[in-house]
Formats: sequence, C-alpha cells, structure tokens
Amino acid sequence: MPHSYSGKVALVTGGASGIGRATVERMLEDGDAVVAADLNAENGERLLSELSGPSREGRLIFVRTNVAEEADIAAAVTRAVDTFGRLDKLVNNAGLGGAFGPITEIDVDDWDYTFHVLVRGVYLGVKHGARAMIARGEGGAIVNVGSVAGLYGGGGPVAYSSAKAAVINFTRSVSLELAAHRIRVDAVCPGFIRTPLALGGGAGPDLSALQPWPDRGEPRDLADVIAFLCSDGSRFMTGTDIAVDGGLTAAGAQLASAPGNTLAKGVVGVNRGSTGERSLIRRKLGRDEIRK
Ligand SMILES: NC(=O)c1ccc[n+]([C@@H]2O[C@H](COP(=O)([O-])OP(=O)(O)OC[C@H]3O[C@@H](n4cnc5c(N)ncnc54)[C@H](O)[C@@H]3O)[C@@H](O)[C@H]2O)c1
Repeated sequence: MPHSYSGKVALVTGGASGIGRATVERMLEDGDAVVAADLNAENGERLLSELSGPSREGRLIFVRTNVAEEADIAAAVTRAVDTFGRLDKLVNNAGLGGAFGPITEIDVDDWDYTFHVLVRGVYLGVKHGARAMIARGEGGAIVNVGSVAGLYGGGGPVAYSSAKAAVINFTRSVSLELAAHRIRVDAVCPGFIRTPLALGGGAGPDLSALQPWPDRGEPRDLADVIAFLCSDGSRFMTGTDIAVDGGLTAAGAQLASAPGNTLAKGVVGVNRGSTGERSLIRRKLGRDEIRK
C-alpha cells in the first residue's frame, strides 16, 4: 500500500456493527480506503476477517476507539492520514441507546455517558477530522448520524432524543464555519433500522409497525445515503439533515406508543448498545411510581 492512497480515504466511527459496518462495506465497494473505529474490538476483528478479501487488500484498518475520548479520536484520524496520506470522508456514526427511564429517576452519570458518546463523540470527530481536511486544503465531506428521535419528542428515550437533536443542530451550525474550507457537513436521521442496537440492545420499540413504507429499514439503506452525501453528487449540499425512515417522520407517528415500547415505562437504567459492555437495568419502578 503506497503512503498516499490514490482513491478516497474514509473514517467511519462505530464501523464494527450495523449502519457503520454497512457504510464501511459500501465504501470499500466504491474503492475507498477505510479506517473503521469502534469501541468493540471483538466486532472489529470480525469486520477485518469478513471484509478484507484479496480485492480489498490493505484498504481496511480497524482502530479500537472510544469516540468520547479526544486522544482516541485524534489517534484514529492520525492513523488514517499516516497510513493512506489523507482524509476525505468522515462518518460520525458510533452510538447506543443510553439512559432510559422517567426523567425524575435518570442517574446523572447515565445522562452524561449518553451525551459523551452521542454528542461529545461527534464534536471530537468533526474537530479532528476537519483539522486533517483543512491541513490538506482539498475539502472533504462529513456525515453525522442523528435519528428521527432528534426531530421531535416521543421517538426515543429523553436523553437519546435530546442528544440526537444536538447532533442535528451541531451539524447545521458547524457547516457554516467549514463551508469556507469546502468541507460539507450533513446529517442522516435513520428511522427504525434492523441493527443489533435496534433489535437486541433494548433500544426501544419496533417503530417499523408505525412506518408507512412496507419494507423494514436495513443498514445498507443508510449506507447508500451516507455514501451519496460523501460523494461529488451532493457537492452543493451542506448543513442538511435527511430522514431515511420509510416515511416515519412524514407520518408524524406517535412513536412512544408503538407496540413493544416497554422501556419507556417501568424501568430505569442505561443501554450500552453493541459496545460489548453490559447494559444495566438499575431499578424496576413500582406501579405508583410509573407516570402514565
Ligand atoms: N438502528 C436504528 O434503528 C437507528 C435509528 C436511529 C439512529 N440510529 C443511530 O445509528 C448509529 C448506528 O447505530 P446502529 O443501529 O448501527 O447500532 P449498532 O449497535 O449496530 O452499532 C453501533 C456501533 O457503535 C459503537 N460504539 C458505541 N459506543 C461507542 C464509543 N464510545 N466509541 C466507539 N464506538 C462506539 C458500538 O460498539 C457499535 O459497534 C447510532 O448513532 C444510532 O444512534 C440507529
């Protein structure tokens, strides 16, 4: 592998699972060199063994990264530049369900943990990714993964929904500053997508029951839109947020009332998603503690 890769170079956080992994796969198909950064080293090793075929030789790197730690994010960006010579595309995708339960019960550390991963992680990604792009002077594209939960109330737990709203307006705000450097910054807002987080991580209800479009959302549905936002085809787009949700937002669904949304009521805890770390139910509420 030459020091400076002739194609595009991408960094995808949360790249070892779900939407991130599908994005890594799509970018490899497009001929990019990709750095997948994720907290879950076991899934990272699986990613390398399953996606590093002969045609992708030397184009995929896994870096164990905690997006909430500045040194980790800086190191992942440095790894991309040192290995492939540049950074053209950055996808801030790492995420998890975070704190859940009634606001009167949520533990402050679980609230902070949620914001550290979902908001601080995106800010740190943009900070260090933009530095590398500005230093090279050829622009770039950044995509932050929000959620339909960040567009209105009732689409997810309170902490998660608030953090995703922050990601969406951070995207708009920082796009103003980075436009002068020809760095575009956009957000995608997934609806219900079949990933380990949505299906197994206790993230919340099966929102697809409320979705107008008949097919279930798959990680690849997001990866294709993210790839478009990182491509020249979207060269006049910046500061946008695009819902990729099978019409959920158009329907204005009452998401909290979706069948199976038991997490909104009756339990308090923190969902650590696909990180390999244990999610926790701290307490089950008594009947009179549950606010209807
Ligand atoms: N699946 C959905 O229905 C859905 C809906 C809306 C938004 N999203 C968002 O999409 C993004 C991807 O989620 P997914 O559904 O693919 O979930 P996933 O659990 O399959 O993948 C998320 C990845 O992020 C990694 N991660 C979590 N915390 C991290 C940290 N601190 N540092 C580095 N990596 C970390 C996990 O280890 C995991 O590999 C998240 O931001 C999520 O909030 C998903």
